[in-house]
Parts: sequence; C-alpha cells; structure tokens
Amino acid sequence: MHPVLLCPRAALKVLQPDSRSIRGLLVSVMVIAAWATTPVVLAQKIQLSVDASRPGAKIDRNLFGQFAEHLGHGIYEGIWVGKDSSIPNTRGIRNDVVTALKAVKVPNVRWPGGCFADEYHWHKGVGPQRAVTLNPNWGGVTEPNTFGTIEFMDFLNQIGAEAYVSVNVGSGTPQEASEWLEYLTTAQPTTLAKERAADGHPAPYKVAFLGIGNESWDCGGNMSADYYLSQLKIYSRFVRNFNPDQQDKQQMLKIAVGPGGGEPRWVDWAETVMKAYQTHTWSWDINGLSMHSYTVGKWPPSYASTGFGETEYAQMLKYTLDMENLVSKYSAIMDTYDPQKKVALVVDEWGAWYAPSAGTNPGFLVQQNSMRDAVLAALNLNIFARHGERVRMANIAQMINVLQAMIMTDKEKMVLTPTYYVYKLYVPFQDATLVPVTFDAGTYTHGDVTLPRVDAIAAKDSAGKLWMEITNVDPNQAAEIEVNLAGVAAKSASGETLTAAKVDSVNTSDAPNTVAPKAISAKVEGGKVTVKVEPKSVTVISVEQ
Ligand code: AHR
Repeated sequence: MHPVLLCPRAALKVLQPDSRSIRGLLVSVMVIAAWATTPVVLAQKIQLSVDASRPGAKIDRNLFGQFAEHLGHGIYEGIWVGKDSSIPNTRGIRNDVVTALKAVKVPNVRWPGGCFADEYHWHKGVGPQRAVTLNPNWGGVTEPNTFGTIEFMDFLNQIGAEAYVSVNVGSGTPQEASEWLEYLTTAQPTTLAKERAADGHPAPYKVAFLGIGNESWDCGGNMSADYYLSQLKIYSRFVRNFNPDQQDKQQMLKIAVGPGGGEPRWVDWAETVMKAYQTHTWSWDINGLSMHSYTVGKWPPSYASTGFGETEYAQMLKYTLDMENLVSKYSAIMDTYDPQKKVALVVDEWGAWYAPSAGTNPGFLVQQNSMRDAVLAALNLNIFARHGERVRMANIAQMINVLQAMIMTDKEKMVLTPTYYVYKLYVPFQDATLVPVTFDAGTYTHGDVTLPRVDAIAAKDSAGKLWMEITNVDPNQAAEIEVNLAGVAAKSASGETLTAAKVDSVNTSDAPNTVAPKAISAKVEGGKVTVKVEPKSVTVISVEQ
C-alpha cells in the first residue's frame, strides 16, 4: 500500500501568474515550495477484527516488572536520597518517584542487579553500621550500602510492588544466600530474625521471586552450562523461603539464569537447564528461566538516544522486533522439556541500550528516552502479551536514570519519560485476558528497512471491559483504524494516545510534557469502532458496552 499524496505539481498547474503583483507571486511560490518539501499525507485505512468471545492467555501483570540495579544513579539519587535530604522523602526514599511509580502499578522490582548482584554481600547493607564497598562493574565508584535490604523492602512497600531478589551465585555462597532469605522471611526467633527486628522490621517479609544468579555465562562468573546447573541445584535446594504465608499459597518462584541471545551457546545453555528440569527430583526445582535481550544495534552501544533521524528510528525498531524470534525460539525449546508450561520464560532484562549521553560517566549507562522508545516499548510489551502462556514476567532495564528508564532525576527535579507513559497507558492490561485481533498490518519502509506499519493487541479486564492497544510505527502517516467487533456490543469508545512532533522528541525538566498522553476520540457506529491514530503513536482505547 502506498501513501496518498496531494501532489504539489498539480497545484502548480492551476496557478496563473498575473501582472498585479510580483511579490504576491513570490509568496505563492514560497508557499508551494514549503508544501513540496512537507508532503501532505492522508491517513490510510486499516481493518482490525477483535473477537471478544474467545479468551486467550492472561497478560500477567508481572510482564510490567521493573529492574533497579546499583548502577550509576539508578538507586542513589534515583530512589534513595537519605533521610536528611532537602528533597521530600519518606525514610530516605524520594516521594515524587514513589508517587509516579504507584500510578503505573509496578508489579515487581528486580534487585540488586544485574552484574552487581554477583558481587553483592547483603550483610554489608543492613544494621546501623554500613560498610563502604566498591562497585567495580559500574564506573568503579564506591558503594555506601546505605540502600540495603530494609530500604529496598520499604521502597517496595511504598510503591506496592513485590520483591524479586537476585542472589549472589558468582562470588557468594549458598550459605550467604540462604541466610539472607532467613533474615528476610523467617517468623521464628532466630538470631537473624532478631537482627531484622532490631533493624526495624519484626514481621517476616514476603519474597515473591528469587533469581539464582545473573548472566552466569558472563559477568556472573563465566560458568559453563553444566557448572551453572550444579550451582542452580544447590541454591534451589538450600535458599529457602520461610515465610509462613508463602508455604502453601504464594510460594516464592525460583528463576534460573537462561539465555542472553539466540546464538548456539545460549541455545545449549537453555537446553541444559530445561533438560535437567524435565527429570528433576523433589530436592530442587525452578519456576522460571530468565532471558536477557537488549535492543542495541551495534556493540558497544553507539546509537544516539537523541538527535537522530528516521533512519535510526527505523533501524532500532527493526532490531527490537527480533524479540519475537527469541521468545518463539526459547518457547519452543521449553515446550520440548516442559509441555505443560510450568516454567515461565522471564525476560528480566530488556530495553534499548544506546551510547552514553555526552558528559556522563560511561559506566553509569545514562541515555535519553524518546518517542522512539515509547514505540519500542509498546512493540515489546505486545510480543510478551501474545506469548502470555509462556512469558509470564518481564523486567525493563532499568527503572530510573539507567538505560530505558521510566524516570529521570536531576537533584530535586524529576522527569517522566515517554516509556513511563507507555506503562501508564498499559495499566488496564495488567492481568487482563488476551482476546484475538486479526489485521493486515501493511508495511512501512524507510531505506532498506521494512516494518509492519501497525501493531495491536486486545484484552478483557476482570470486569469484562474490552481494551485495545494500537501502535502506529509509521512516523509519517496516520492510520484510520476500523475495528470490527465480535462478542461485544459496543456503545461508545474512548482512549488516550501518546505521540510527538518528532521521532526523537524527549521530555526534559524545561519541557516535561513534550511526549505525554492526550485524550483521543473514537467513533462507534454499527458495532464498529473507528479511530484515527497519529504517526508514531501508542494508543489505548476502551470500549463501553
Ligand atoms: O542492565 C545492565 C547490565 O546488563 C546488567 O547488569 C547485566 O545483567 C546486563 O549485562
């Protein structure tokens, strides 16, 4: 399909020079020249069919999980400012960030890393005297350990999220990890429980998810798959959750290290872990296999996060769609060994990774967040949702000030990114039930990149209300979406859309609402919903019955 252009040359034909004013003619020519360089593009029609009577998999709310590593200003300054800070805080945790995160209903937070996790010794981060240690992975800076276990759990409590704790397999021991879980979760009067009480929390905490190592094939210890497997069995056996409320129901889910890409070494890794799982005995178990996949383009990351054009927009979106191939590939491997889909594929690190912003410490992974990232986030969330039977958890990297962040802070200032607003738009999809959407996406081509022009998902929430998400990838052309609905008698529809003037539009503290959602109107007629979505936009519509 081709865009419908109003041709400036046709307009030229009807323009007759007259003798009245050369100046008038010049003005006309200038107007036409501007028209010629900015083609007027009409929206193209796309038909969607939604069948609300055929419920699919649940879109697990944990797909909207976050990742907060001790890295750059992700924790310190981003979350933790300390009790004596002039920045408004509750027990050292900044209030503006908590308010913003509550609004996106963060389901879980993975902490303390990342590569940091395999060098983290939890006991240095509890009690009145904190050890000052090092963070050799990320800029070689000192780690004050002032944000430790109690502070992390307090942060989770303030934002209403569950804990995803990654334990140290690389440089720690099973004993250290098992004692951390005892400190966190036992209700018995052990020495560690008393220590927790003295640190301010007599009641046991809940730990919903346990990560057993991080990228153990690389920064987590350069292990072979077999070596990791033997570690996994030991940690799975001995790192217990003692919380009385998590014994029968709400049991802690154990997540093993999985692949970091599609290459044969990672296929072998996934095969090794899943094959062992198939015949596992009572003494060890896993509930998830992790997968990491960043949208980088080139390594080391060299794509700019601001000041780029349509070429880089199209290229990064092409790279990001490889998530579909990876998820399909590992789902198929997991199906071989776990056809009942007991083990979730947990994409616990994903997002765009660009060149560090100018003037920042390259070890702090600071980058801007643009309209491109909003489209990129929506495309990935839709891939996860469509694979909801297997992909039941994902954690974008990272929450604040690092990589594809939700939030950027600068001292007392806080900016919500385009990616944050995508997560806000998607809140109704948390724990909703996917329903099938069929459509011919058409194509958007720029240079040698061709992408599906639109993407869409639909789901019913627990109250039975139908929600649709439509991403218009095309940065130049709006789309007239016509939705044929089955299984729902639509009366009205309304929604919100996120778009911006340019593919690289960003929010800053001087212009915080450059990329922010706006209301969008949709029409319902004869059981059909029609809505016009702007170029490069992410739109969520709800249908009233
Ligand atoms: O998110 C940054 C880093 O990327 C993480 O620490 C590591 O797990 C991954 O390689």
